[in-house]
Amino acid sequence: MIVIAGISALKGVEMVRELETERLFIRRWQVKDASSLFEYAKHKEVGPAAGWKPHESVLESRNIITTLFMPNDSFKIVLKENNKIIGSIGFEPDKYRPGIKSMELGYSLSHDYWGRGLMTEAALRVIEYGFSDLGLDIISIVTTEINRRSQGVIKKCGFVLEGNLRRCYRIYTGEIRNCMVFSMLKEEWLSRK
Ligand SMILES: CC(C)(COP(=O)(O)OP(=O)(O)OC[C@H]1O[C@@H](n2cnc3c(N)ncnc32)[C@H](O)[C@@H]1OP(=O)(O)O)[C@@H](O)C(=O)NCCC(=O)NCCS
Repeated sequence: MIVIAGISALKGVEMVRELETERLFIRRWQVKDASSLFEYAKHKEVGPAAGWKPHESVLESRNIITTLFMPNDSFKIVLKENNKIIGSIGFEPDKYRPGIKSMELGYSLSHDYWGRGLMTEAALRVIEYGFSDLGLDIISIVTTEINRRSQGVIKKCGFVLEGNLRRCYRIYTGEIRNCMVFSMLKEEWLSRK
């Protein structure tokens, strides 16, 4: 694990530059990655599953990297077998738990690589980073009732369903979706290790 000087969204915590799993490198986003992000974020099924509009240009992807990924604790997912950037994963502040050592996990994966267990592999490593390195007490994740694939990842990682929120998320088309809120406590993570 490589650490760089810098402060994550949690004050006083050093930011990790790279994580590794069996099949993946999980690295910090850089501006030069914009065309790789665009390559998968323009797909018509990836963003809409998570509620965001497919990217329309490399410039739009570049803006997401600089305004969303880089200021937050976000990583690109690099597949070792071909050294390609195939997805994104990271933390943002947990909007439901201000003042608590909690972050919300989010992710997306290139459509070409769905169904190989890659996001579960990445998420388990980032969860470990959250509890061990960031010192979190709880990690949350919010998905929609229709996002069965994401629910699969969430369940395989061991998150607990807290409840459903009706009409909680207006996506980019204006459609409103029901949400499912999950979380994992540090002690639950420790007992699964
Ligand atoms: C959600 C996403 C990251 C999943 O990635 P993935 O690598 O395909 O996920 P995994 O292969 O690790 O796990 C998927 C699991 O979901 C389950 N699953 C997959 N499709 C499913 C379906 N249609 N119905 C029910 N469960 C399903 C399976 O149990 C699968 O586990 P398995 O490996 O035992 O078969 C990917 O589909 C994606 O990027 N979606 C668009 C963006 C998005 O929705 N982000 C999340 C927002 S909350």
